[in-house]
Amino acid sequence: MESYRTKINVLIVLILFVLAAVGTATNSPRRKLGNKRYKGPCMAVNSIDKCWRCDPNWEKDRQKMAHCALGFGIIAMGGKSGPYYIVTDNSDDDVIDPKPGTLRYGVIQKGPLWIIFAKSMRIKLRRELIVSSHKTIDGRGRYVHITNGAGIKIQCASNVIISNLRIKNIVPTPGGLLRESDDHLGLRSGDEGDAISIFNSHDIWIDHISMSHAADGLIDAVAGSTNITISNCHFTDHEKVMLFGANDHYEADKDMKITLAYNHFGKRLDQRMPRCRFGFFHLVNNDYTHWERYAIGGSSRATIISQGNRFIANDKLLMKEVTYREKSTASVEEWMKWTWISQGDDLENGATFTPSGDQNLLEKIDHLNLIQPEPSSKVGILTRFSGALACKVGRPC
Ligand SMILES: *[C@@H]1O[C@H](CO)[C@@H](O)[C@H](O)[C@H]1NC(C)=O
Repeated sequence: MESYRTKINVLIVLILFVLAAVGTATNSPRRKLGNKRYKGPCMAVNSIDKCWRCDPNWEKDRQKMAHCALGFGIIAMGGKSGPYYIVTDNSDDDVIDPKPGTLRYGVIQKGPLWIIFAKSMRIKLRRELIVSSHKTIDGRGRYVHITNGAGIKIQCASNVIISNLRIKNIVPTPGGLLRESDDHLGLRSGDEGDAISIFNSHDIWIDHISMSHAADGLIDAVAGSTNITISNCHFTDHEKVMLFGANDHYEADKDMKITLAYNHFGKRLDQRMPRCRFGFFHLVNNDYTHWERYAIGGSSRATIISQGNRFIANDKLLMKEVTYREKSTASVEEWMKWTWISQGDDLENGATFTPSGDQNLLEKIDHLNLIQPEPSSKVGILTRFSGALACKVGRPC
């Protein structure tokens, strides 16, 4: 009887130990559950992924994805209703007269195109890739890497969807003549090397992109860009991650509206996740596991609504504050008027968020296109498949 009891006790201790270990694992900033290794049933749990990922026939009608965006980029239709264009050639040798079959040839065409890839490939862009209106770049089902060259530029365009790419090691490229559209050759100055840059454009959706190491930003949205959703992306290895609004005097950016949802801000990131000016920024259910200087920064009266995010401060550093205001441009009296709200966020390891401005703003505004936040305790699972997916044709993704 006595030894039976001892066994039960040992068992209980064991069970508690396992539960504790599992608990720590789910809270661990070093998340081991990458999407590449996951082999179980479809686990698309966030409100965007649910729209298509569990459909085993997602590949038969890729354009259904055009209706899956939520947030401010909700009406970005990309190349919906246009024909498919298949990238068969990974070269980028001629930027003035691009060869049919290359990615560059596709993105400069007039009219809607849904661009897909014949096979997995690495594309080294010689110059920035100027994506025109009504284009989808859909890397689902392939491993498409954009590396060791220029990045993607959406300039004076609307309705662009970019999905499932791996973008890294983006470098500055020299200026010169470049085909900017079917019927226009531009003489451009050198490019600073953003992974994705959005310039004076609207209705943009960027989903499931893995990004790291760019000479300039990973995603910048500037010069009056708006109605943008950035979702399910995985960012690592970068200093200045995202810049929304580049100039404290550019008032047109007051109309900028950007949603960041279900992204994972991961290893070796320093700051600007994002750095905002003027506009309205809704950050919902993102996972911030690494920052060094700060996670969210701003100036010029930016409005920042942070809901249901997880912020895990670094053990070793003193920079546990999530927020940062550019003090050189505003006094305390001034920035205390900017509306920065943290609602339902999970602040771990001593992380702090300094709110300011009208804390009741959400009760006064239209909630159209604000993604409904889920509890921050679910962020680990909601962002588990962030970054480019390893989808197979004929199977749920
Ligand atoms: C952005 O979307 C809103 C509707 O949500 C619309 O009223 C506005 O005109 C759009 N802005 C641009 C530049 O497309």
